[in-house]
Amino acid sequence: MAKKYSYLICLIPVVSVLLLNNHTAVASDRYVMTDRQLLQELKLEPMLIHEPTGAALIKLSPNQRETLALQAHEHNRCAGHELIGDLPASANVEQARDYAQKTFQTFDQQLKRDHAVRTKASIGIPTTPGAVDPVIESAVAEVSEQNLRDTVAFLSTFQTRNHKSADAGRAINAFKQRIQDTLKDAKIPYSIDLISHRSTPMNSLRLSFKGTTKPNDIVVAGGHIDSINNSFFGSKSAPGSDDNASGSANLLEAARILAQGSQPARTIEFYWYAGEEGGLLGSAEIAASAKSAGRNVVGVLQLDMTLFPGDGEFTLGSMTDFTSQEMRDLLVSINRDYIHATIIEDKCGYGCSDHASWYKNGFPTLMPFEATAGKMNRNIHSDRDTVNSSSSYRHSAMFSKIAVAFLLSLSR
Ligand code: BES
Ligand code: ZN
Repeated sequence: MAKKYSYLICLIPVVSVLLLNNHTAVASDRYVMTDRQLLQELKLEPMLIHEPTGAALIKLSPNQRETLALQAHEHNRCAGHELIGDLPASANVEQARDYAQKTFQTFDQQLKRDHAVRTKASIGIPTTPGAVDPVIESAVAEVSEQNLRDTVAFLSTFQTRNHKSADAGRAINAFKQRIQDTLKDAKIPYSIDLISHRSTPMNSLRLSFKGTTKPNDIVVAGGHIDSINNSFFGSKSAPGSDDNASGSANLLEAARILAQGSQPARTIEFYWYAGEEGGLLGSAEIAASAKSAGRNVVGVLQLDMTLFPGDGEFTLGSMTDFTSQEMRDLLVSINRDYIHATIIEDKCGYGCSDHASWYKNGFPTLMPFEATAGKMNRNIHSDRDTVNSSSSYRHSAMFSKIAVAFLLSLSR
């Protein structure tokens, strides 16, 4: 019971849709991706299963989605499923199966590459450098906890960064200015762009450092800058300090440090995504267009929630679903050489953040996380997601260090 109560925030959106539905009949059956185990436990029959990962396609009523979320909470998960944005409720069974087949084919390619990495230990990118690199070591040492504190405070002062709100527009424009101010004495060229979307009125932000000799190879680090308050009653304030002002701040601090170094061989792109809380909206569009443009993205780091040391300071989670073996290996070697934390592998159990958008489009991804899923911050998606006595900037600073080492390792 205590566990269910602590996850009430995750649950409320579905409940509120149900409440609305009784009066206005707006909610409808939707195609979702979830995992087969949850469906088995609920005796629900999936339309299609991807055997190796257990990913399952099913169409569910709002009522069934609520039951699924409750079941997911039993496994320490949040929603436990993702709505498939590209599949409207009106799509027929054929179209839904087609969509899932294509996604599952990409999963197969991803797993094949993981297998190749495990058996041959290399796919061309040096994920296990032999020696500590002094350039990376001194860049990592530049990370400032004070800068993280300032940026988290700055983002948390917006009433909300909900992707549908006018405040989100103000936050993204103000953050663009903050990047410009932070990079005012940059030693290398850069560009900053607002990216507009079809699926959300909020813009994403991109900061690019163009590569010298391999400009068409791209290394990505990103995190969502939007926030959400899922409570039906009460305050709609969504400070989102941990989820995800923290990751957003980590990225800006990493960018500040890289801008003081030398121009990379490969292009580096930072993203602050819009509308993650609405269903990975910004990143889905960005990753899909990278794929259709045939861009060579060699690695994608996702930072989403880094401020709450649920398993203790200097212990972090590394999500193994929707991420790639080679990138997780790289995290292990970065940690060994520069960070010296304890890493515990864990799973979200569904596409829980923007890395899943890139993974579904065939790109290699990594998601280090503040803790294991079971010990994560229970206050997210509410007005209680603030900086408080359990926040740790010492802990959060590790994630900027990881970003610096990840980007420098992969971009030369
Ligand atoms: N920061 C969370 C992701 C998260 C939650 C990661 C718990 C690891 C453990 C993210 O912003 C989020 O809330 N994601 C949604 C899913 C998304 C598709 C709307 C969720 O988990 O419910
Ligand atoms: Zn969230």
